[in-house]
Amino acid sequence: NVLLLAATTSLASGRPQYGTPNPHEWIPGGPHDFRGPCPMLNTLTNHGFLPRDGRNFTKANVIKGLGDGLNFDTTLAGIMWDQAIIANPEPNATFFTLEQLNVHNVLEHDASLSRTDAAFGNNHVFNQTVFNTSKAWWTDEVVTAKQLAHSKIFRQLVSRAENENYTFSASTEEFSLGEVAAPIIAFGDTTAGTVPRELMVYFFENERLPEELGWSKKNASITLQTILETTAIVRNATSLLTGGETAPADPHKRRDLHSG
Ligand code: HEM
Ligand code: MG
Repeated sequence: NVLLLAATTSLASGRPQYGTPNPHEWIPGGPHDFRGPCPMLNTLTNHGFLPRDGRNFTKANVIKGLGDGLNFDTTLAGIMWDQAIIANPEPNATFFTLEQLNVHNVLEHDASLSRTDAAFGNNHVFNQTVFNTSKAWWTDEVVTAKQLAHSKIFRQLVSRAENENYTFSASTEEFSLGEVAAPIIAFGDTTAGTVPRELMVYFFENERLPEELGWSKKNASITLQTILETTAIVRNATSLLTGGETAPADPHKRRDLHSG
């Protein structure tokens, strides 16, 4: 009974829509589907906001997927696609695939938070062992930009020390800062530069939008300006110098400054 089946499936996903299958049901990729090194593109693909087979990521598909899935502004999503199309080596390519993102040192880079370096193995499948070492730095329920920065710096330190082929250029740094800011942008507070730990961990570990934890896509559309501001918070937080903090690490430590 097809109708009953559809009803049961949607009930199981927590959204009863009798007779109307949810087009954004979470379905992880099968053996013939491509997935890549980006936890968010994989997530949006698993929800059918992007082509479920991981192929044919045209500009129109990416703009629609990031818009419908996360409320990214059209201009922003277009800029991101423009930066990613180099993944397809064909001249004047009109699409990329998730598999094309796996090529090391094109867009994929060392010291990822949730993947191992290409020199050590699979550079695109989620790696729980690696991720646990990143997660360990996210010590508060509401993770701060500083804690995110710690995980970024830690992963770079380990890679630089252990990977003879460790590569991290100035442009890698720019992408990496954007990636570290990304969970704040999708799930957190872009003004405070914070993100609920539970939402971020669930997203990385399941490649699924954390809807069952109460998250829903932001009402305000996310623009290039949002990204630049949030990335700036993360960039400041990655500085190992003291004195440039945007906020005191611990207000108690500063009380003596004022109480004289
Ligand atoms: C990582 C591509 C959009 C979140 C990556 C990586 C690629 C990539 C190639 C791998 C870099 C590495 O080696 O770690 C893209 C493209 C996008 C896109 C082409 C859109 C056109 C997004 C969005 C978000 C996001 C919208 C979330 C708001 C992340 C995160 C990582 C990442 C958190 C870091 C993963 C880690 O360090 O393990 N992305 N991405 N991405 N991306 Fe995306
Ligand atoms: Mg990587």
